[in-house]
Amino acid sequence: MCLNNCYIKQKNHIIVFNKKEELKNHLSTLSKNNTIGFIPTMGSLHEGHLSLINRSNSDCDISICSIFINPTQFNDKADYLNYPKDTKNDLNLLKQVECDIIYMPEITDIYTKNQTIKKYNLSGLDLFLEGKYRPDHFNGMVSVVEKLFQIIEPDYAYFGEKDLQQLYIIKELVKDKNINTTIIGCPTIRERNGLAKSSRNKLLSKDDLGYCSIIYQQLILCKESFEDTPFTELKKNIEEKLTKEDRIKIEYLEFVDIKTFKPQQKFNIKTKYALCIAVNISGVRLIDNIIL
Ligand code: PAF
Repeated sequence: MCLNNCYIKQKNHIIVFNKKEELKNHLSTLSKNNTIGFIPTMGSLHEGHLSLINRSNSDCDISICSIFINPTQFNDKADYLNYPKDTKNDLNLLKQVECDIIYMPEITDIYTKNQTIKKYNLSGLDLFLEGKYRPDHFNGMVSVVEKLFQIIEPDYAYFGEKDLQQLYIIKELVKDKNINTTIIGCPTIRERNGLAKSSRNKLLSKDDLGYCSIIYQQLILCKESFEDTPFTELKKNIEEKLTKEDRIKIEYLEFVDIKTFKPQQKFNIKTKYALCIAVNISGVRLIDNIIL
């Protein structure tokens, strides 16, 4: 924490930058004694994001949030175009939680015209689950996060455990590129019925939102019995429960080794597992996981 020349937070005062040069200029006027916490987002903020900002506020002198729907991480154009946007509400929420600075760039402030995205070496963490079902998603996600880190140079950056594979891939990125930012994973925040908070929940009907409580219920049940029931049996059980009504389609449901994200078939006492799931409900894609 800062001891002199410290940033003074002002209630209800938030500075919005659309241009990276202006943001960088502003940051260069602040004393290096201040620690910077960074929360990258794609907007349409919910309590999950706000919990990351609260955590940054308690760890750091300055909290910066970016709002940018990153086109390069969407493998499906319709998904990109349908991604929910609610800038006015986002700004209000960010004021309420006393975020200090917002960076809301246009695409041209991040990417040059016809920019090709380089291929990252992510030690194979990107080969499974989201990486398998959303080709190039992680490459696009990592490229924007690296660019944002270069602009902001945060001391800490905060990511939710709902996107568990993303969190581990970002940890790999900072290790591989020697980036001087500590990555902090924060617990998934859930709706009252257990569904993981996600910007995409806004696209669900009230009825589907209620029905989705079954996802987390099944993950919790599995945590209780994964050590002594074969994984195939557990998976079959969950698949049957989730698809009892026609509306949920499972994209993947895998027990993974948390170090590699490689799907595992059987329990080994030495391995730390997570059970990860992606489903499609009425055209909305949701992911969740439980660390076992
Ligand atoms: O988790 C997200 O919202 C995005 O993947 C991120 C980290 C903001 C990069 O676009």
